[in-house]
Amino acid sequence: MSVDHYFLLGRSGLRVSRLALGTMNYGKAGFHAPFGKTEDEARPIFRSYLEAGGNFVDTADFYTAGQSEEILGRLISESGSRDRVVLTTKVSHNTDPGNPNAGGNGRKHVIRAVEDSLRRLGTDYIDLLLLHVWDTLTPAEEVVRTFEDLVRSGKVRYGGFSDVPGWYAARAQTYAEAHGLNPFVALQIPYSLLGREIEAEYVPLARNLGMGIMGWSPLGGGLLTGKYRTGDRGVTGDGRLGREGAVWTSPWQADERAWHIVGVLEEVAGGLGRSMAQTALNWAVTQPGMGAAVVGASSVGQLEGNIAALDFELPADARARLDEAAAVAPRTVYAMFTTAYQANGINTGSKVGDKPRGYAPPLWHG
Ligand SMILES: NC(=O)c1ccc[n+]([C@@H]2O[C@H](COP(=O)([O-])OP(=O)(O)OC[C@H]3O[C@@H](n4cnc5c(N)ncnc54)[C@H](OP(=O)(O)O)[C@@H]3O)[C@@H](O)[C@H]2O)c1
Repeated sequence: MSVDHYFLLGRSGLRVSRLALGTMNYGKAGFHAPFGKTEDEARPIFRSYLEAGGNFVDTADFYTAGQSEEILGRLISESGSRDRVVLTTKVSHNTDPGNPNAGGNGRKHVIRAVEDSLRRLGTDYIDLLLLHVWDTLTPAEEVVRTFEDLVRSGKVRYGGFSDVPGWYAARAQTYAEAHGLNPFVALQIPYSLLGREIEAEYVPLARNLGMGIMGWSPLGGGLLTGKYRTGDRGVTGDGRLGREGAVWTSPWQADERAWHIVGVLEEVAGGLGRSMAQTALNWAVTQPGMGAAVVGASSVGQLEGNIAALDFELPADARARLDEAAAVAPRTVYAMFTTAYQANGINTGSKVGDKPRGYAPPLWHG
């Protein structure tokens, strides 16, 4: 496996690198400004990714108040890589407070947001458009139809979801299938050793409905790199999480459980002669259902180290130790049809594996 070894994203013909380059830290404005990079700082990171053969880049209209898209658009243009790159962006956030239709997932906003993104990115099409976050209001059918129109207009090649409830993604995909509309091919959700909650619902959803998972914050925003410590002064270390008033964008806290996982990761990585970041990334991208890990970097050195995470195989005993340290207990309903009950054949009278061939729905990915 390497970054220039391309995999099909979900049930699509789109070929992408296993490591996608996150650009949430390109730019110096808005919510992400405290850890943002200037265009000159971002350029060598982006170039190194391309030179290594990476083709999957991720941004959003809301990152650094639009600057991420602007910078990325210029970097793509000056490197002449528009055709090579699978350009992903997202819409949902309100970019014009006070105007209720300048945010959310209604048709009026999504179409306007795409026009704005195209302008900032300096291109006439987006390869992968993701609904950034569930707005709790817009019917799934409206989103499907809006994405369909965007694809038909040529402004978008593929659609996907990010941070929506499982039932919502399933309803949208089923509606699209039932009406012969373009399917959603990706599901971007948080995934790292610090947080495996998606495994119960989203991984089977994505595998059954043909969506490749794009796991975001696979390093927990940097916590899994080993550069942070905890103490009286809270989290300390040389990085964005160690600063006074640090902005946490990852959903996982630096709590006792997290430090336990970090400790085990340090031992496992040491035993393999690999960095903690490489070990954590390799684990994440090779988990079931994973299309790609969306990783950020603030220097070329970090990026190169992260790309090297793809060039080794995680031994089974190392994975088992990490799995155990990062295990999450299944919630009530899930426990009824997972390990404890299934192992004994209590709930269904037989184990899932005992069912005749053809009982399980097809797995489209991984
Ligand atoms: N869909 C969504 O809702 C959503 C949400 C969040 C993020 N994302 C996407 O996911 C991408 C990644 O998110 P993220 O930046 O939060 O998570 P991450 O990839 O887990 O963490 C990246 C950060 O960790 C540090 N780092 C990376 N490699 C390192 C290494 N080898 N050694 C030491 N430190 C290293 C850097 O921070 P320092 O500056 O501190 O060194 C870097 O910015 C974003 O750019 C964005 O595209 C999507």
